[in-house]
Amino acid sequence: MAIITYLLPALAFASTAIAQCSNAATMTITQSADASALASCTTYSGSVAIPTGLATPQDSNGHQQLIVDGVQAITGNLTVTNAIMLSSLTFGDLKTIGGFELGGLTVLSELSFPQLTQVSSMNFTALPALQQMSFGGSGISQADSILITNTGLSSLQGINNLQSVSTFNVNNNAALQNISLQVVSIKNSLDIEANDGYVSGLSTTFPMLETAQNMTFRNCSSISLPSLANVTEDLGFYGNTITSFAAPNLTTVGGLIFVDNTDLTNISIPGLVSVNGSYQIANNTMLKQINGFQKLSVIKGALDFNGNFTEVDLPALTQVQGAFNVQSSGQLDCTAFNADKNSKQVIKGNYVCSGSLSTPGGAGTKVSASSTSKPTGKSAAGHNDVNVQAVMGGASLIAGLLQLIL
Ligand SMILES: *[C@@H]1O[C@H](CO)[C@@H](O)[C@H](O)[C@H]1NC(C)=O
Ligand SMILES: *[C@@H]1O[C@H](CO)[C@@H](O)[C@H](O)[C@H]1NC(C)=O
Ligand SMILES: *[C@@H]1O[C@H](CO)[C@@H](O)[C@H](O)[C@H]1NC(C)=O
Ligand SMILES: *[C@@H]1O[C@H](CO)[C@@H](O)[C@H](O)[C@H]1NC(C)=O
Ligand SMILES: *[C@@H]1O[C@H](CO)[C@@H](O)[C@H](O)[C@H]1NC(C)=O
Ligand SMILES: *[C@@H]1O[C@H](CO)[C@@H](O)[C@H](O)[C@H]1NC(C)=O
Ligand SMILES: *[C@@H]1O[C@H](CO)[C@@H](O)[C@H](O)[C@H]1NC(C)=O
Ligand SMILES: *[C@@H]1O[C@H](CO)[C@@H](O)[C@H](O)[C@H]1NC(C)=O
Ligand SMILES: *[C@@H]1O[C@H](CO)[C@@H](O)[C@H](O)[C@H]1NC(C)=O
Ligand SMILES: *[C@@H]1O[C@H](CO)[C@@H](O)[C@H](O)[C@H]1NC(C)=O
Ligand SMILES: *[C@@H]1O[C@H](CO)[C@@H](O)[C@H](O)[C@H]1NC(C)=O
Repeated sequence: MAIITYLLPALAFASTAIAQCSNAATMTITQSADASALASCTTYSGSVAIPTGLATPQDSNGHQQLIVDGVQAITGNLTVTNAIMLSSLTFGDLKTIGGFELGGLTVLSELSFPQLTQVSSMNFTALPALQQMSFGGSGISQADSILITNTGLSSLQGINNLQSVSTFNVNNNAALQNISLQVVSIKNSLDIEANDGYVSGLSTTFPMLETAQNMTFRNCSSISLPSLANVTEDLGFYGNTITSFAAPNLTTVGGLIFVDNTDLTNISIPGLVSVNGSYQIANNTMLKQINGFQKLSVIKGALDFNGNFTEVDLPALTQVQGAFNVQSSGQLDCTAFNADKNSKQVIKGNYVCSGSLSTPGGAGTKVSASSTSKPTGKSAAGHNDVNVQAVMGGASLIAGLLQLIL
């Protein structure tokens, strides 16, 4: 008891002295004096929030600026949300932050963190006036997760030199012109979507990227992955305006998906050996030839292609574990696949290969009637049961047949 009474004043003193630069509760900056207090700390151990209701001087437009120099590290989060009149935010000496969250800053047009190189996560949401970021020298090199959505950014200069990242999600940034990242690996997922306001589209390039867990590209005008070697889960392309896609170094992928890429005419993945999930190609209206897979041998899931192609060439195929569905409105030669099916070694699941269809569908759909009266391709009679049935319009028969095949 006596000891505690004796210590109390000392503890109280220590805690007030440390409180300026360390706090379990979030430090809130609402006026210039708060910013000055933070500026006196080299390292601030805790989180800092700049919320709505900032009471700093306003210019003739009612806009506010905030400059915090001195502080070099914030161990917790820096969260700036809904400070709707904040037009300029500067942390002149800040090198590292935990989470960096900017949200709902309607007029923020200047973001200056000239020393910043490291954040654990970045969440930039609803920053319509922000056209560029200014970070340290070569920019942020380390981050676990990046989310940039609904901003006015025209480029991602400032994070282009990221070396590795776990989660990278950039969506709905209408002015974005290009994404060029130096990352070598995407440990978790990459999602790029709906950044489609710029007149020539969003071009993306990942010159160093070798491995990724999961990647999804939507609405991009070009996609360059020259070093990509392995993707453990899915690699998906949806609604892009790319005219061709090449991944010269890709050898293995979990799932591979090309859907709704309406300008795509050429896919070239010459070194791809195995797809450890399903391989889908659907609704790429300009894609006439699927012949850029000279080494593809093993598909552990389904192969599911539908479209308007006249050639599907998979010369190295040795194994398709799931369903096999190739349906085209174009004239198609199914001879090689019929042989693969008949040998019972290569194609093990439900089998459909059919051309000249009025409405080519995905795996599990009924095979539509032929759009022409001629049998398709040069398929040898008697080796093409499903195809012949389709031409005769035996849709329900086919459905029954499909169930029996597996
Ligand atoms: C920082 O923000 C993240 C995400 O919002 C949260 O999970 C984490 O607990 C925050 N950290 C601190 C120290 O407040
Ligand atoms: C990002 O920030 C926005 C608003 O500031 C918030 O609603 C959202 O939950 C955050 N997302 C993540 C993944 O932290
Ligand atoms: C891509 O963005 C950079 C800025 O990061 C810019 O300098 C460059 O001109 C842009 N390239 C294209 C093709 O738009
Ligand atoms: C492609 O892979 C080869 C062999 O692993 C390697 O030498 C080459 O540098 C890679 N190319 C690119 C562009 O990464
Ligand atoms: C990609 O996978 C192949 C085959 O599993 C392996 O030999 C190669 O080392 C992997 N490459 C990278 C960059 O992980
Ligand atoms: C393929 O997928 C299975 C599970 O679906 C997983 O156990 C295996 O490691 C994967 N192989 C490769 C090479 O990614
Ligand atoms: C992985 O990628 C696929 C296809 O691109 C996508 O549908 C799925 O949502 C992604 N999963 C995660 C966890 O990002
Ligand atoms: C973006 O891609 C999606 C498919 O993921 C598609 O539905 C949508 O129409 C595309 N948007 C534009 C503007 O092309
Ligand atoms: C498809 O793209 C590959 C790789 O870029 C190229 O070598 C090939 O000539 C192209 N094929 C056609 C028909 O354009
Ligand atoms: C392809 O387009 C058809 C017709 O619009 C649609 O029913 C089908 O769901 C699409 N397939 C995929 C995989 O999106
Ligand atoms: C398929 O391509 C031909 C031209 O090669 C075109 O006449 C036809 O409309 C296309 N069909 C579909 C469904 O896109």
